[in-house]
Amino acid sequence: MEEKLSAVAKTLKPSPIQQLSLLAQSCNAVNLAEGFPDFPAPSHIKDAAVYAINSDFNQYRHVQGICDHVAKIIKYMHGLDVEPLTDIAICCGQSEAFAATTFALLDKGDEVVLFDPSYETYETCIKLAGGVPVYVPLDPPCWTLDADKLMKSLTVKTKAIVLNSPHNPTGKVFTKDELETVAGACHTRDLLAITDELEKISSFAHVWICILSTFVCSLSGWRVGWAVASACIASAIRNIHIKLTDSAPAPFQEAALTALRSPLEYFELLRRDYESRRDYTVKLLSGVGFQVQFKPEGSFFLFVELPENCVVSDVEFVEELIKQAGVVAVPGCGFFHRNLYVDKLFPADYSYQKRYIRFAFCKSDATLAAAAQKIGELVKSLGLLKLFHSDRKMQ
Ligand SMILES: Cc1ncc(COP(=O)(O)O)c(C=O)c1O
Repeated sequence: MEEKLSAVAKTLKPSPIQQLSLLAQSCNAVNLAEGFPDFPAPSHIKDAAVYAINSDFNQYRHVQGICDHVAKIIKYMHGLDVEPLTDIAICCGQSEAFAATTFALLDKGDEVVLFDPSYETYETCIKLAGGVPVYVPLDPPCWTLDADKLMKSLTVKTKAIVLNSPHNPTGKVFTKDELETVAGACHTRDLLAITDELEKISSFAHVWICILSTFVCSLSGWRVGWAVASACIASAIRNIHIKLTDSAPAPFQEAALTALRSPLEYFELLRRDYESRRDYTVKLLSGVGFQVQFKPEGSFFLFVELPENCVVSDVEFVEELIKQAGVVAVPGCGFFHRNLYVDKLFPADYSYQKRYIRFAFCKSDATLAAAAQKIGELVKSLGLLKLFHSDRKMQ
């Protein structure tokens, strides 16, 4: 039967993340792997969803208020005029918005530049749309964008650059200089900029497609997202969205509008809350020997390096962390991409790609404290050196 699968489907394999998730479930491990919160949603947003369900918002729906509000936010933050009736497409989360964007823009063979490490789903969407992902490695430890590398990666086939800031998995927020580099490339080479900004909106390119979702309010399962672009592109994205899913969930669109209308203090509180969870997790991980050379300025991930003298790979380390400490994180290798093209264009030692672990800190105090306790107990019984050397096994 496998021969019946499409060429792209044949290349898709369960990621190490999925395999380790199964192991983590069987060990009942504390979950610092997946990037979604495990604490309750704010009650004013839950009430709005319940109200919408009780009001029988049961059918396909387009909540124009979301577009009106997003346009206001963009005007407020950037002084940009977005026409709410034409320039915004509401989709089922960023995931669908991104897929619809690639289907709307790419023809066979169009190249799309991605910065590596990279959020995993972009590549699949680009390939399904017939495009070719081209990776530009960001330089560790601060994941700096080298303008020269970006320019070298552009060819006559390049159609778009994907920019994800704050960045998954590193938590990097691209600097103004880096944004200007990307904007400059878009202007001079007439490229599209597709920006995935789950927590922040920024505008810098002449043809800009910004994608956001209810993720911004820690409601990743509610599946509402939106793409903002010039009317012609937004309309193409909307047409494809209608063919794919028709409508984002009706009651959750209503609730998303309530979430968007939350007072600024709510977002400020959320930001400060994540900041303190980040600091707690930095302290925990650096205390047990991880190299935390880069403190994220956005998102809710820490991408930390194993100590220099650590002999196990990222995957082996996480496997043992699950078995021995009962804590699960994500090995970094799943976010990195290598191919002959990258190797030829940017020759370098890429062994660091097996040395990073991603921890999600968007977790309740109880979850973070449980992780700290479990890691602490392991270190107490085995010692720091054992934790990282492990003689391959941490026993
Ligand atoms: C960078 C990034 N983009 C998109 C998504 C998915 O967003 P959504 O849940 O809105 O589809 C995630 C989820 O982890 C993400 O980290």
